[in-house]
Amino acid sequence: MSVSEVLAARRTCRSFAPEPLADWLLDELVDKARRTPTAGNCQGVEFLILEGTDQVTSFWDTTLPSDRRGGFPWPGLLSAPALVVPFGLPEVYLKRYSENDKVASGMGGDKADWAVPYWLTDAAFSMMALQLLVVEQGLGCCFFGLFDNEAAVRQRFGVPDTARSPGVLAIGHPDEAALRPSRSSSRVRSPLATVAHRGNW
Ligand SMILES: Cc1cc2nc3c(=O)[nH]c(=O)nc-3n(C[C@H](O)[C@H](O)[C@H](O)COP(=O)(O)O)c2cc1C
Repeated sequence: MSVSEVLAARRTCRSFAPEPLADWLLDELVDKARRTPTAGNCQGVEFLILEGTDQVTSFWDTTLPSDRRGGFPWPGLLSAPALVVPFGLPEVYLKRYSENDKVASGMGGDKADWAVPYWLTDAAFSMMALQLLVVEQGLGCCFFGLFDNEAAVRQRFGVPDTARSPGVLAIGHPDEAALRPSRSSSRVRSPLATVAHRGNW
C-alpha cells in the first residue's frame, strides 16, 4: 500500500478481537515510527508498550476501573491486545536547546518558554506514523486521550514524573462483527476549499 492508500483506508477502530499480535510486530513498528522528525533531532520521545492480558488489564484498571465501565460506549476497545503510550521528555528538549547551535532560541531554560511543547508534537508525530504502519499491516487502531489519568499511568508503570503524553494508541485485529461508527467518525469531512486558505485566510 502507498502512503496515500493507507491514509485513505485508515479509520479509527474501537472494537478488537482478543487475538494477540505477532511477537515481532510491535518492536518493528515502534522502531519504524520513531523515524518521524523530532525538534532539533532531540529524539526525546520514549514509548510505554503494554502487551498481553496482564499489562493491558492493568492499564484499564488504572484508567477505567470496572465500576465505571457500565456506561462506557466502547467495550470492545478494552479487548485490544496492545497499547502504546508515547511520552515526550521535556528535560531532553531543554538540554538539547541549551547546546551551542540552539541556545539563541532561548528555549533551553524553562518549559514555560516553549510556545509549543515540542515533546508533545514529536510524540504525536510518532503516533501518526504508528497508525499508518498498523493500517499497512491490515490491523486496526484507535488513538485516544489519557484525560486526567496521565499521572496515574505514569505512577502505575514507573514512567518519570516529568514525562508528558498526548494519548494512547490501542492496536489489534478489528472485531468486524462489533464495529460501528462513533458519532465523531460519522461526521462528514469538510471540503478542501473550506479548510485550505490560499494566500490569505
Ligand atoms: C487527539 C485525538 C484524541 C482522540 N480521542 C479519542 C477518544 O478519547 N476516544 C475515541 O473513541 N476516539 C478518539 N479519537 C479518535 C477520533 O474520534 C477520530 O479520529 C475521529 O472521529 C475521526 O475518525 P477517523 O479516525 O475514523 O477518521 C481521538 C483522535 C485524536 C486525534
